[in-house]
Parts: sequence; structure tokens; C-alpha cells
Amino acid sequence: MKVTVFGASGLLGKALMREWSGDEIVGLSSRDVDVRDADRVRAVVESARPDWIVLAAAYTNVDDCQSHPDLAFAVNRDGPVNVAQAAKHVGAKLLFLSSDYVFDGNKTSPYEAGDARNPQSVYGRSKAEAEVRLLEVLPECCIARTSWLFGTGGKCFPDTILKAASSRPALDVVNDQRGCPTYSVDLARAIIGLCGNRASGIVHVTNAGDCSWFEFAREIVKDAGLSTEVRPVSSQQMARPAPRPAYSVLSPKSLLQYGIAMPMWKDALLRYLQERQN
Ligand SMILES: NC(=O)c1ccc[n+]([C@@H]2O[C@H](COP(=O)([O-])OP(=O)(O)OC[C@H]3O[C@@H](n4cnc5c(N)ncnc54)[C@H](OP(=O)(O)O)[C@@H]3O)[C@@H](O)[C@H]2O)c1
Repeated sequence: MKVTVFGASGLLGKALMREWSGDEIVGLSSRDVDVRDADRVRAVVESARPDWIVLAAAYTNVDDCQSHPDLAFAVNRDGPVNVAQAAKHVGAKLLFLSSDYVFDGNKTSPYEAGDARNPQSVYGRSKAEAEVRLLEVLPECCIARTSWLFGTGGKCFPDTILKAASSRPALDVVNDQRGCPTYSVDLARAIIGLCGNRASGIVHVTNAGDCSWFEFAREIVKDAGLSTEVRPVSSQQMARPAPRPAYSVLSPKSLLQYGIAMPMWKDALLRYLQERQN
């Protein structure tokens, strides 16, 4: 199988490039091709002629998206449409990475793949609109929604907490947003499994179990053997430019249909800390 990964230099992309074996894989960063450039995207896809395209490229800074909506929609919605049209042109299958932020967070039980989108931020809207457009261009494409991604080789929450915890006696972390942390390695393995299973439609892919950012931070500090105090605070006390859903736990049912079960996030965190030390 021939695979092309857009966003290969990102957190997930790096894990995909490391974990994927047995297939012919080509990884692209924004320096190789900007997804906003439809002609270039088409030329690259025509030349590679992949069986699968994994589209992990995105403008992922949620707060910056809020103040740069034109850029957010260009990269996160229009870019993916360019890739989907190129995929359609060569008959490639497409797996697109989307986000838990397409939901408003008003539910109190895990979001199923078919639940209504109601994004609250520019980033969430750009992803939600991309989903709708991609399903129009390529109805058989696979949309893999993930959340709270962490891993080595880039900025992520555990890395930020560990750096802050080593220099500060106490950390304030929000306790009123609940979601599912997801390790890039586990997400990459699940994506490889989904492509192998010729997946299509919307699938939720996160580590199992859920927590608040405060609970996540407390676990990180404990596992790292640090004595830094972690204090729960409200989102109001830690105001950020982009609103986040209060609850964005994603149900694993859509993924289990493909026979793929994800490890618990606490187990994933221990493996991440191990990988970070190596
Ligand atoms: N991080 C999370 O918590 C999270 C949560 C839910 C969903 N997701 C989604 O999961 C996917 C992977 O996220 P990630 O954290 O691995 O992202 P990331 O580390 O921020 O990496 C983004 C990737 O996209 C590329 N890129 C950015 N703008 C581009 C453009 N205009 N044209 C082509 N490539 C471009 C970057 O290339 P350069 O290195 O060359 O800039 C990089 O390879 C994304 O679709 C993201 O929206 C992430």
C-alpha cells in the first residue's frame, strides 16, 4: 500500500512516520506543500499516486485561530478540501483528522460520532466545516476525531506541565473541562488500523478514560515523581481567547466497530514519560 501523510512534521505526523511499517509511506510538511495551494496539492498527489492519504496537517493553535479566522479557515477547511479533491482525482482514500472541539460541550455523557456538531470556537468551526465539505467531496472518506493530543517531538500539555512543575512550587490548572487525553503513538497505531480496515465515516479515536485538565496535570506531576502542588481552578479564573467545551469526552463505540480498542490514558501517560526520557 502507498500512503501519503500531510502534516508529517507535527506531533501526530511524527508518530505516524515512526509507527507505520510494511507500507510505502511519504511524509509531507508545510515546506513540501502548503495545503492552501490547490495546484501544488494536486501535483504532489498525482505524482505520489497513494492508496491512502492521511491528512494531519492543520493550524492547531486554538487561541491563535480565534484572532486569525481567515487563516484558520484557509488551512483547516479549504486546505483539506483541496486534498480531498486531489484524492478523488487519483482515486485515493482519505483519512482526515478532526477534533472534539466540533462539539459544544453541553452533553454529560460521551459524544457519539453521529451527535450534532455545534462548535464554539473558530478552530472548532473550521474543523466542523471541513468535515461537512469533505463528506460532500468524498462521501467515503474517514473522519477521525481525536482530542487532547500529547506526545514527544512537539509542544503538548504534559510537556508544559513538567517544565512548569520543575520551576514553580504550585500550578493552577482548570478543573471544569473534561475530555480524553490521547497519546500520539496510540492514535497513530489506531489510524494505521483504520486504513488497514478500509474505514469510512466518522470515527472517534482517543485513549480510554477521561479526566479534567487538573486531574491530568496531577497525574503527570505524580508519575514524574515531583512534589509540585497542583491546584484546581475554574476556566473563568484562567480566561483564554478561545472558548473550550466543558465536556468533550468522545465515545469509543465507532472505533470498536473496527475491532480497535485504545489503552487507558493513564497507561499511555506512563509510556509517554518513558519515551520522553529516552
Ligand atoms: N493537538 C491536539 O490536541 C489535537 C486535538 C484534536 C485534533 N487534533 C488534530 O490532529 C491533527 C494533528 O495534530 P498535531 O497536534 O499533530 O498538529 P501539529 O503538531 O500542530 O502539526 C501540524 C502539522 O501541520 C502542518 N501544517 C500546518 N499548516 C500547514 C499548511 N498550511 N500546509 C501544509 N501543512 C501544514 C505542519 O507543518 P510544519 O511543521 O511544516 O509547519 C505540521 O506538520 C490536526 O489535524 C489537529 O487539528 C489535534
